[in-house]
Amino acid sequence: MRVVVLTGAGISAESGVPTFRDADGLWEGHRVEDVATPQAFDADPGTVHRFYDARRAALAGVEPNPAHVALAELERALGPDLLLVTQNIDDLHERGGSTAVLHMHGRLLSALCAECGARCPWEGPMITAGPCALCGVAALRPDVVWFGEVPLGMDRIQAALERAEVFCSIGTSGAVYPAAGFVQYARAHGAGTVELNLVPSEGTHHFADARHGPASQLVPAWVDEVLSEVRA
Ligand code: APR
Repeated sequence: MRVVVLTGAGISAESGVPTFRDADGLWEGHRVEDVATPQAFDADPGTVHRFYDARRAALAGVEPNPAHVALAELERALGPDLLLVTQNIDDLHERGGSTAVLHMHGRLLSALCAECGARCPWEGPMITAGPCALCGVAALRPDVVWFGEVPLGMDRIQAALERAEVFCSIGTSGAVYPAAGFVQYARAHGAGTVELNLVPSEGTHHFADARHGPASQLVPAWVDEVLSEVRA
């Protein structure tokens, strides 16, 4: 069975990673839209670095939850027939056991050189980073996709959505495009569509099947259903 899963901040909420648009979603009084832009970085790189440095540091105190673990089990069963796309920049899918995650909004544990485009693994604060090891220019930035920038892997995602038999969206508010449009695209190409979210998302009416509750319960149950269908 060919499956595309899209995850958002809600899948990591029970691990203790704050979401963006729920009640606790503000960071030092800033809306995410005010720090996650190239303009914000140009105007005040220190504030933007501190935002991402704090999120990177917080990874040490969180663990994957049963929803991440269940999706890793799905990957082991489906292999390349699963495309797991996440909007999350944390590493909880990988720590839950997934090995082939497409991080369409980038990753906290990576640095991007704005000068030469090189990427390198990154741990610890970036605010004190020296120059890029490759080109020598002091232009390292978080390897994340900001508002107004193009998400990563869109060609692969689009191709997988066109071939998918099932599209499942987990823990995302449906407020941010292009991810919010995946459900309609998959559905137009014949996929069954499932939403697993704490509350109805903005696009909930686009899903054939919408289930509401915590991801740590809904995701393992849904994965069990898919696995029993695949194994039948
Ligand atoms: N289980 C399932 N869903 C949950 C849980 C939970 N335990 N807790 C919260 N949610 C749901 C919320 O109800 C909300 O609908 O997760 C969703 C999180 O929505 P957002 O905070 O908007 O996060 P997301 O959709 O991932 O944001 C998309 O916006 O700021 C940008 O780049 C950032 O990738 C991010 C993008």
